Amino acid sequence: LAPARLIALALVLAPAPALALDEARWLDPRADRAAALTEAPAECLAEPADADARYRVALGRVAFASPALLGGLAARQGLSCDACHRNGHGNPAFLIAGVSGAPGTADVTSALFSTTRGDGTFNPVPIPDLTGAAGKARFGTMRPAGDLRGFVHAVAVDEFQGREPPPAVLDGLLAYLAALRPEACPADPVAPLGFGQAAAGLRRTAAVLAEALARGEAAAADFVLRSLAAELGRLHQRFPGIPAADARLPPLARELAALRPALADPAAARRALAGWRLRLEAALEALAAHRADSLYDRDAVIRWLAARPAP
Ligand code: HEC
Repeated sequence: LAPARLIALALVLAPAPALALDEARWLDPRADRAAALTEAPAECLAEPADADARYRVALGRVAFASPALLGGLAARQGLSCDACHRNGHGNPAFLIAGVSGAPGTADVTSALFSTTRGDGTFNPVPIPDLTGAAGKARFGTMRPAGDLRGFVHAVAVDEFQGREPPPAVLDGLLAYLAALRPEACPADPVAPLGFGQAAAGLRRTAAVLAEALARGEAAAADFVLRSLAAELGRLHQRFPGIPAADARLPPLARELAALRPALADPAAARRALAGWRLRLEAALEALAAHRADSLYDRDAVIRWLAARPAP
């Protein structure tokens, strides 16, 4: 064989780059993992009418689902508030060895995620639904706090070793939590989590980034940009070994990373972001053709899980 053919053969035989699925890492192996990966409890979000309040809630929604809010092991694993509180609810399928007791519980004073908060005792408690929780007088049972801002700050910074979040991001998180209202629950308690929802999520995060830039909130913009990069990475994980994704998504990620130092000049950053959003649309259109092979498709997820026996 000619060397070029040998190289081509080697490329074909080489295993696809092992892109793990972050969201599969904290799932109870006995739970219906295919369901957990392709649907979620429906979010009960009361969107405010006022434009300013809407922006705060949208920013908080990004933060809630972003590993950029956390630090240490949690961030490296892709964990976010949403991993435990799915769409603001609990997560009966949540299970991390050493952190969970029964599925759906977590030890919030575990040394695994926190060097300062570990209490040396394995004391997991159920992950609560946060819908309607913002109106309560006390939060949590292990390290109870009377003010929600202090509680949420401690969760991000102490429990999960996150960097100090920009005040605008913390404001947003509180606005988002306050907007999770039982009366806003949709009729169907289960929401699909497919390619369409992921694409809509990326568009929404990019729109929040544009708005943060328009408002001159540089620190929030930087946070949203890092969150958007993580979201793009999660999309890529759902297209393992699919050449269209391997060709389209890394350039978008690089372009996003290059935008970061440019955030100091909001006008230029907004122009660059507008171009990026067009290229995101082109990529999403190309990926839509492969959605049935992606891990947004329930049957594809079932096949993928079958090839990966639960640990
Ligand atoms: C590893 C899973 C996990 C993650 C990640 C997580 N939480 Fe929680 N959360 C819990 C558990 C478990 C409790 C109950 C703690 C207790 O009883 O002390 C809780 C409690 C809460 C409460 C108090 C609810 C109430 O009714 O008293 C709020 C608010 C909250 N979490 C918000 C957040 C936010 C915001 C984030 C992201 C910064 C987050 N959580 C990340 C597991 C998690």
